[in-house]
Order: sequence, then structure tokens, then C-alpha cells
Amino acid sequence: MDMKSLQDTARTLLAPGRGILAMDESMPTIGKRLQSVGVQNTETNRIAYRSLLLGTPGLGEYISGAILYDETLRQQLDGVSFAELAKRQKIIPGIKVDAGAKELALHAGEKVTEGLDGLRERLEEYRTLGARFCKWRAVITIGEHRPSRACLEANAHGLARYAALCQEAGLVPIVEPEVLLDGDHSIETCYAVTVETQRCVFEQLYKQDVAFEGMILKPSMVVSGKTCSQRAGVQQVAEQTIRCLRQAVPATVPGIAFLSGGQSDEEATQHLNAMNLLAKKMDLPWRLTFSYARALQNCAMNIWKGEATKVDAARKALLLRAKLNSLASRGEYNPTMEQQKAA
Ligand code: 13P
Repeated sequence: MDMKSLQDTARTLLAPGRGILAMDESMPTIGKRLQSVGVQNTETNRIAYRSLLLGTPGLGEYISGAILYDETLRQQLDGVSFAELAKRQKIIPGIKVDAGAKELALHAGEKVTEGLDGLRERLEEYRTLGARFCKWRAVITIGEHRPSRACLEANAHGLARYAALCQEAGLVPIVEPEVLLDGDHSIETCYAVTVETQRCVFEQLYKQDVAFEGMILKPSMVVSGKTCSQRAGVQQVAEQTIRCLRQAVPATVPGIAFLSGGQSDEEATQHLNAMNLLAKKMDLPWRLTFSYARALQNCAMNIWKGEATKVDAARKALLLRAKLNSLASRGEYNPTMEQQKAA
């Protein structure tokens, strides 16, 4: 394992003021997103939309890495591959390598992420196509008697086996255990489940000899369930999320890049900012930044709606969202900055 090169990639991805753009929606998910703005899920439309995102002038100032989907890494626009387009923007190309979350046997309502079979060979190919880091997402559901121990352990084991294969191939693994927002649970319940999930993940990573210095954790934030009647405020989310990380994440992990998980764009930015304000006072060992899909893309998708004439406006909106999250990753964001939108 070339530890130095893994650490260099991880450090570049986590550089101050930069974060990651997740644009790795699977075929059904991108279909849903396109359909929500009345656009058909065709290859032409997927290329048009994804090149709108990655071709945004100046994006590399705020975005250090872009997570692509298998299809995207193989596509070209006017003879330029998406990996090349990313590199021209000084953005590192990454790739989602899991094969999706499937029903966990004997555990109704719970899922386990698949994709280990043949992964070593796929990683080798992704590397030749230009990828330098990877992503694997596991989902944990909160509910009555959930998550089960079986679900936590199966998912943590999968993440650890994936991470080990990535490091062996010289690719930085983004380890993503997502505790879903769905449900009416309290923030305290989310805290308990998230600590348990992350501890279980790091135990398995340790057992598989994954080098913590050469990985990035992509967790969900500790928040109240979406339908909880009394949802916790920004400060509480920031405090509980950091408290959780301090209980579970080794100091040698270089950084944490949060997912947005269905939070509104502004919530996701505010939470990240509040955490970085706290981090300044606490001397935390990790960089805290973003790896958002929806909270970065929503605005651009809703302006674009498949129209070529809207590409510039959509790019402006994406760039603003990226800039605000960049500021939040330094604890320098203020909600009044949202007004630039109107301007
Ligand atoms: P969201 O930010 O939309 O949750 O997506 C992040 C991601 O990469 C999910 O795997």
C-alpha cells in the first residue's frame, strides 16, 4: 500500500475551504431526480445534466472531488471524458463502487449494501479510467427494534472489506454509514444509533487493517427524525454530531465529509457552519466538510429543467451553493448570504 499517495489524495480532498460534490446517483435515483423536473431519463439528458454540473466555471475553487457513477466515468462529451473535465477544474474524480442496498435476509425493513464480488478487478479498471477515490454507502434505518445488531455488523463488515480493497488498489475509500432521516424519532435516539453505528464501523475497519490515515468518513449528522414533532435546532445538531464523532472516530482519520441526507439546502449549510464554529473552540483532530448530493444540486436541477438556455443560471446557483458550503466548512457562513440568490 502506498500510504503517502493515499494520504496526499485524502488531504487534497479535505483541503481548507473545499468539499466534495456527490453526483453518483444510481440509474433509478437519477431517473427520479430528472423526472421531478419533467426531464426524461435518457443517456443524452444524463450527460447534459452532469456536464452542466462539472463544467461550471470556477467550481474547483470550492469543490475538491466529484463522486461519479460508473456510467459517467465511461462517458465523453465532445471527446472529453468526465474524468478529464474534472481534472481541468482541479477536481479529483472519484467513483461510487457499491452495488446498492438490498433487503437484509431475516430482517424485514433493513438493508445491507452489496458489491464486494469482483470489486478488486473493478477497482483496477476504475483507476485506469482516472478515479482516485471511491465511495460505498451503507444505510441504517431507525425504527422499532431497529437497527438490529445483524444489520449494523453486516454493513460495517461490508464497508471495511471495501475500504481494504480500495487501499490495496491505491484508492482512498470514503466510508459512508448513513443513518436515515426517516421516522419520528428524537435527536437522542439518532445520537445513540449513530454512535453505535460508527463504533461498529471502526471496529470492523480496525479488524480488516484499514489505515485510518488513508480514508475519509462520510457520516450523516445527528438530527431529529424527519417527522419528529419537536425537531432539534441548529446548535443542538452541531453539538450532538460532534459529541458523537468524539465518541467513535479515531483521531488519525484526517477528515469527515458529511452527507446531506434530505435536509434542506440551507439546513445542511447551517449545520456544517455551526459544527465548524464549535470545532474552532474545541481543537478537533479532523477537518469537517461536506460531501453533498441533493443539498448542492437541488437548486441547479430546479433551474435547469432540461433547458439549454438555463444552463448558465443553473451553474450560477450551483456555484453559490458550493461557495456557501465552502464558507460553512470554515465556520464563516452567515444566513444573510443567502440573499445573493436574489441578486
Ligand atoms: P445526499 O447529500 O443527497 O444525502 O447524498 C450524499 C450521497 O452521496 C449519498 O450516498
